[in-house]
Amino acid sequence: MSKPVVVVPGLQRRDGLEALSQFATIKQWKEASPMPRDLLKEWLKDADALWPVNKIQVDKDLLKDAKNIKVVAQSSVGYDNINVDDLTELGIPFGNTPDVLTETVAELAFTLVVCASRRIVENAAFVTSGAWGKNKQPIKGFDLSRRTIGIVGLGKIGLSISRRARAFGMTVLYHNRHQRSDDSLYMTTYVSMDELLAKSDVVLVMAPLTEETYHLFDETAFKKMKKTALFVNVGRGKIVDTDALAKALETGEIDYAALDVTDPEPLPGNHPLLQTGKCLVVPHIGSYTDRTRHDMVMLTVENIRNGLNKHPLTTCVNEEVNYKA
Ligand code: DGY
Repeated sequence: MSKPVVVVPGLQRRDGLEALSQFATIKQWKEASPMPRDLLKEWLKDADALWPVNKIQVDKDLLKDAKNIKVVAQSSVGYDNINVDDLTELGIPFGNTPDVLTETVAELAFTLVVCASRRIVENAAFVTSGAWGKNKQPIKGFDLSRRTIGIVGLGKIGLSISRRARAFGMTVLYHNRHQRSDDSLYMTTYVSMDELLAKSDVVLVMAPLTEETYHLFDETAFKKMKKTALFVNVGRGKIVDTDALAKALETGEIDYAALDVTDPEPLPGNHPLLQTGKCLVVPHIGSYTDRTRHDMVMLTVENIRNGLNKHPLTTCVNEEVNYKA
């Protein structure tokens, strides 16, 4: 019996592809350039599953002639490139990779907070440039203890970040669409967005990108923050109006920014944000460790195998169309 066909429209980790090849025929786009959408539509006509990579947009239009697709599964917790409503309408379960990356992303998020608060990158450059010992001053940091962090988007990863913040002696405020029921357990305090912006020394974004969060951080939001505030984004780049952020840094509305995600991505090396000299940017590496990326692709392969066998996906976003046990 021939194996089901899984389309992988870009480069992917070898361990994941090897595991997938045990039970599927992989049709993979191996060029460095993005796969042309029309060609992907053509490939999907005969495919049984899709493993999206490179944030390709997955929607009804992409899948309109893909009559055999039984599952779409991707290796990330965020899925703003996937039109889940469309997939649900088509009866196709979609799997993402929550949980396996929670601690890893929280570690990166808090690394950004710590590095930014003590200007680690600039101070390291101070030494390598030979400035140390030449009558010049290193760059002064600010304390995290007895300060307040405001987390916008307190889900699993946000909570994990809050644990790290508390270990550093910080008070944790948060804002979500709805207040959580476990504030006393986690020692977190729910506040309005305005209160969070006004009171936080560190404002950290860990929210998903939705219509509601698109450009949530605009000129008005930055104006509501303390002039000494550190702004950290580990959610999605488009939650922030990048021009407004660059302006807020330039004009001193806020003090500094540390970003794992940007708009655009990749961020060009000569981008105005970097010209401000008040911004630490890393290239969307929240989950980028070998162990976690391994776990993410293995969970994706598990979701694909389950979907192909019409078994419930282990981590399904649209449970209403997940296969039943
Ligand atoms: C995700 O998986 O959505 C995150 O962006 C990982 O860094």
